[in-house]
Amino acid sequence: MIIKSLELENFRNYKSLNIEFDKGVNILYGDNAQGKTNILEAIYVSATTKSHKGAKDKEIINFEADEAHIKTYLDKEGLERRVDMHLRKSKSKGIAIDTVRLKKAAQLLGLLNVVFFSPEDLSIIKDAPAQRRRFVDMELCQLDQSYLYDLNQYNKIIAQRNKLLKDMYNNQDLKNMLGIWDMQIITYGQKIIKRRRLFVEQLNEIIDEIHYKLSGGKEKIKVEYAPYVSEDNFEEMLKKAREKDIKLKSTSVGPHKDDFIFIVNGIDIRTYGSQGQQRTAALSLKLSEIELVKKITGDNPVLLLDDVLSELDSNRQNHLLNNIGDIQTIITCTGLEDFVNNRIKINKIFKVETGVVINEN
Ligand SMILES: Nc1ncnc2c1ncn2[C@@H]1O[C@H](COP(=O)(O)OP(=O)(O)OP(=O)(O)O)[C@@H](O)[C@H]1O
Ligand SMILES: [Mg+2]
Repeated sequence: MIIKSLELENFRNYKSLNIEFDKGVNILYGDNAQGKTNILEAIYVSATTKSHKGAKDKEIINFEADEAHIKTYLDKEGLERRVDMHLRKSKSKGIAIDTVRLKKAAQLLGLLNVVFFSPEDLSIIKDAPAQRRRFVDMELCQLDQSYLYDLNQYNKIIAQRNKLLKDMYNNQDLKNMLGIWDMQIITYGQKIIKRRRLFVEQLNEIIDEIHYKLSGGKEKIKVEYAPYVSEDNFEEMLKKAREKDIKLKSTSVGPHKDDFIFIVNGIDIRTYGSQGQQRTAALSLKLSEIELVKKITGDNPVLLLDDVLSELDSNRQNHLLNNIGDIQTIITCTGLEDFVNNRIKINKIFKVETGVVINEN
């Protein structure tokens, strides 16, 4: 699958933009704050309905406008497909595939798969557990619509349960209602735990070989799922934590506390690894993400590399660029110096300047 072109209207600092991508490697370069990342963000929104930064629709719409449009033309298995998005300041966004309006935003998922790689991803190993959960969730939501549904339900119910715990402070009678939320939390929570467990299994089938090569044959990696509670003891743990939850006015157990552990040559590299080891593992994780999408969907994702090359040493840069293969890639950078050695074939170069994009070849 490839993105043929992208049209923006009042999206961030773009009043109007029409950009045609090559099916190979595309470079967007320009000074800071010109709008390079905004283009990748628009693509990410077209794929997932959400901003990779977690920005709200009203923040994405141009300061001077009330609505924005994103049109993405795709080539999927030889067929031209089109995604239309209409973002509004105070209403939820409208989405259409091939001009047919979707009833639910989630129906979009699966049409366009992207792998987004930014410098922040390189610290995923040493970050707090929330970042690793976010990584897994963002990936699974793209790959599995039922996961997206279960996760949304779970988060909604946790928020409602937490509100009830707060309200109980003034009204002890509400305690009887906790059981209703608990049952639902367990139902959706168990599904999430199960899918995350499978995800880690699928990831381990891929990451091992990638990391072995990337570390020059020195390191064996394994990802371990560390669920806060298991499918089987969730109910019991939730019950046990009830008095504590009432005191804390928040839900203290469940998959919203899960973590993922990276073991290299037998040690947990979050605690004991060097910074280089942690960054190499993060790169392996991103490269595995590409392979995982290919394996699960049977189609190539589009790779979006946001300013990431300047963060990597030449060894790791080469490894990343050599592994792109025939995947459509869109790279942002401030200058073209990273490419002077011609390590990869660049098919199209665009210069980005204050919301205007000029094709230079
Ligand atoms: N809603 C909006 N309306 C108009 N302009 C916006 C909006 N949101 C952000 N911008 C502008 O977009 C610009 C930033 O764009 P972007 O993040 O794409 O820059 P960049 O080229 O990737 O820069 P860098 O090299 O620093 O990463 C900023 O100048 C910002 O003011
Ligand atoms: Mg940027």
